[in-house]
Amino acid sequence: MKKFIQLLLVFLVLASNTVFAAAGPSIVAKEFGKIAGKKVMEYTLTNASGMQVSIINYGGALTKIITKDKKGNAGDVLTGFTNIEGYLQKTNPYFGALIGRYANRIAKGTYTVNGKIYHAALNNNGQSLHGGLTGFDKVIWESIILPGDSSIQLTYLSKDGEEGYPGNLKVKVVYTLSVANAVKIEYTATTDKATVINLTNHAYFNLSAGKEATIKNHILQLQATSYNPVNDVLIPTGKIENVKNTPMDFTSPKKMGQDLAKVAGGYDHNWILNKKPGLAIIASVYDPSSGRYMTVATTEPGIQFYTGNFLDGSLQHTKNGIQYIKNAAFTLETQHYPDSPNQPSFPSTQLNPGETYHQTTVYQFSIH
Ligand code: BGC
Repeated sequence: MKKFIQLLLVFLVLASNTVFAAAGPSIVAKEFGKIAGKKVMEYTLTNASGMQVSIINYGGALTKIITKDKKGNAGDVLTGFTNIEGYLQKTNPYFGALIGRYANRIAKGTYTVNGKIYHAALNNNGQSLHGGLTGFDKVIWESIILPGDSSIQLTYLSKDGEEGYPGNLKVKVVYTLSVANAVKIEYTATTDKATVINLTNHAYFNLSAGKEATIKNHILQLQATSYNPVNDVLIPTGKIENVKNTPMDFTSPKKMGQDLAKVAGGYDHNWILNKKPGLAIIASVYDPSSGRYMTVATTEPGIQFYTGNFLDGSLQHTKNGIQYIKNAAFTLETQHYPDSPNQPSFPSTQLNPGETYHQTTVYQFSIH
């Protein structure tokens, strides 16, 4: 009898642990690879409903977002690579990565802060793109699991002068997976010299999770009635144009592919969001093939909608050997407008000592 009660107790403890593990959030950390002898970690966050998000501390990149489709089958809605070699390949187009110090382009890399001229590293048609040659996407971030098993924190110190940006910039990014299937990204930063800053995440989504080769059937809605036209090297002309009666109009839900061919090169522009300061939902995407629906909320004034125009099927080490062809995935990068440091009429991207930069963006998933 005593033995039976002991066994029963062991069984009950094991069972309660199992139930607990399935019901609560969890974070598993494992080595993803090594760069010059330094370990790169991958953190996998799982919430109570089984949704999973993975992040590596190289570039702070989102490597997986696994959500269920309308039939209950789990699938990964992010483009990505199976190993660190994939992320290190020269042509990696910033898959899932954190972007800084300045997301998108600064014309000729040249800008002025408080009367002083600075030159950011040039890496794109004579312009500076996504922070230069070694942006925040190409560095190893310090990483820790935060209490509560639903968040991880990444920190990086960008030294004064790095890639042509003034000031020692301390950056902190917290990724959280909520019980409501939301991936929240919270950025904060401080500097010891006046500088410019524009942080974002460069996740590429295909909500069909590999079923559809392109995103042309995805339906997008943007809370934006105007956008920044660009010149031939994708620098804003400075004009603000209304989207009405143009292919740029996503004020009502529209297939990404509907007017794609009418836009030279494809969509790769900043839309100006109709919103007050603070966090607000400003975009939604629906994939009819899987029933997946994603909303984007942000504190930022703009969003770069990019239809993966430069993907050409040549990337190596891809997940399941998928060929990421042109338009295989889209990005919705929440941001300040490109080239703001040279455009006095755009919202300022200057950060001064004593101030704290904040940006919050939430990608939330459901089935419709
Ligand atoms: C830019 C594209 C660029 C891509 C990098 C986007 O944010 O707007 O022009 O090619 O990032 O893959």
